[in-house]
Amino acid sequence: MRTYLVTGGAGFIGSNYIHYMFRKYGDQIRIINVDKLTYAGNLENLTEVEKLPNYTFVKADICDKEAISGIFAENDIDRVVHFAAESHVDRSIKNPEVFVQTNVLGTAVMLNAARAAWEKEDGTYPEGKKFLHVSTDEVYGSLPEGEGYFYETTPYSPHSPYSSSKAGSDMLVKAYMDTYHFPANITNCSNNYGPYQFPEKLIPLIINNALNGKKLPVYGDGKNVRDWLYVEDHAKAIDMVQEQGRLFETYNVGGHNEKQNIQIVEIIIETLQEMLPDSDPRKAHVSKDLITYVEDRKGHDRRYAIAPDKIKAEIGWEPETMFKDGIKKTIRWYFEHEDWMKNVTSGDYQKYYETMYTV
Ligand code: NAD
Ligand code: TYD
Repeated sequence: MRTYLVTGGAGFIGSNYIHYMFRKYGDQIRIINVDKLTYAGNLENLTEVEKLPNYTFVKADICDKEAISGIFAENDIDRVVHFAAESHVDRSIKNPEVFVQTNVLGTAVMLNAARAAWEKEDGTYPEGKKFLHVSTDEVYGSLPEGEGYFYETTPYSPHSPYSSSKAGSDMLVKAYMDTYHFPANITNCSNNYGPYQFPEKLIPLIINNALNGKKLPVYGDGKNVRDWLYVEDHAKAIDMVQEQGRLFETYNVGGHNEKQNIQIVEIIIETLQEMLPDSDPRKAHVSKDLITYVEDRKGHDRRYAIAPDKIKAEIGWEPETMFKDGIKKTIRWYFEHEDWMKNVTSGDYQKYYETMYTV
C-alpha cells in the first residue's frame, strides 16, 4: 500500500485532490494530510473522508522541522504532494513576510526532511519515491494581451510577493534535483475553480457577494485575463504526473480557457439568474447593477495563459470539464453549501473583507 504525505490538504486544491485520490484508489492507498489550518485550511472540506482507516490528519506547520521529520520517521512515506502555501496575491501585497516563511522556508523544510528520509548512503533513492511540488503559472509573470503562452522553458519573471515566493520554492526544488538528484517533479498550473475555494478568490467571492446582494468588486478595467481550470482536472494532472512524469521534469497544467475577469463576473450573474427559482427573494437583487469597478491591484499581471503541450504529449493528460459545465457545477455547489460559506465567512474573514474592500 503506497503512502502519500499531502501538505495543505485542508485547503481548496488539497482537499479536492484528497477526495479525487480516495475516489480513484479507495483502500489501495494511505494518505497523511499535514496542515497548519490557517484561515484557508478547513477540516469541514474533508468530513467525507475523516473516518477512513487509511486517512490521517496531522495538525502541523511545514516550517516545524521536528514535526515534519517526525512524520517521516514514523511513516514509510512514498510520495509527497506539496500544496501547503500562502496562496492569495492580495494578502501577499499587504503582508509579504508570511509568504516567504511558508512558501520558501516551509518548502525547504519539506525537501530536507524528505531527502533525509529517502537518500541512501550511495546518494541514490529507492524506486518509487517522489516529491511533487505544486506550483503556479504566476511564476512566469505576465503575458501581453492576445499574444503568447507560458511554456516550461519560459523564464521566470514573478511580480507579486506571492508569485516571487512560489518562484523561490520552485527554484529550491530545482536545486535539490540538480544537486542531490532528488526525485521530484514540479507542476505549474493556471487558475483553478471549483468547490471548497475560499471566498477571497474571484469566483467564490463574486458568487457569495451576488447571492447576498453585495457589490461585485472588479479590479481596474476588468480586462485582465486568467486561464481557468476545473480543480478536478488539476487533481488528475497531479496524479498522472506522479505516475507517468519523467523525474526532474516540470509540467505546465492548463486547459486553454482564457477569460477576462469581467466575463467571469457576467457569467456568474447570468448563471445565478437562471438557477434561482422565481420564488427565491435573492433573484431580485442578483444583477449586473452590482458590478463595481474598484482601484486596480498593485502590480496586477495582465494575462496568464498556459501551453499544456508537454503534459498532453508526454503523459496524455487532457482536461475533462468544459468551462460552461464546470462553472455551473461550481455555482450550484456554493448555492447548495450555504452553511459552508457561512462558516468560512464569519470571524477573521469578515475582518479581512472589511480591510480589503470599501465597496
Ligand atoms: P489554499 O490557500 O486554499 O490552501 C492552502 C492550505 O495550506 C491551507 O489548508 C492552509 O491551512 C495550509 N497551510 C498554509 N500555511 C501552512 C503551513 N505553514 N504549514 C502547513 N499548512 C499550511 O490554497 P490552494 O488554492 O488550495 O493552493 C494550493 C497550492 O496550489 C498552493 O501551493 C498554490 O500555490 C498552488 N496553486 C494554486 C492555484 C489556484 O488557482 N488556487 C493554481 C496553481 C497552483
Ligand atoms: P484571484 O482569484 O485573486 O487569483 P489570482 O490573482 O491568483 O489570479 O484573482 C483572479 C483575477 O480577478 C485577478 O486578475 C484579480 C481579479 N479580482 C477582481 O477583479 N476582484 C476581486 O475581488 C478579486 C478577489 C480578484
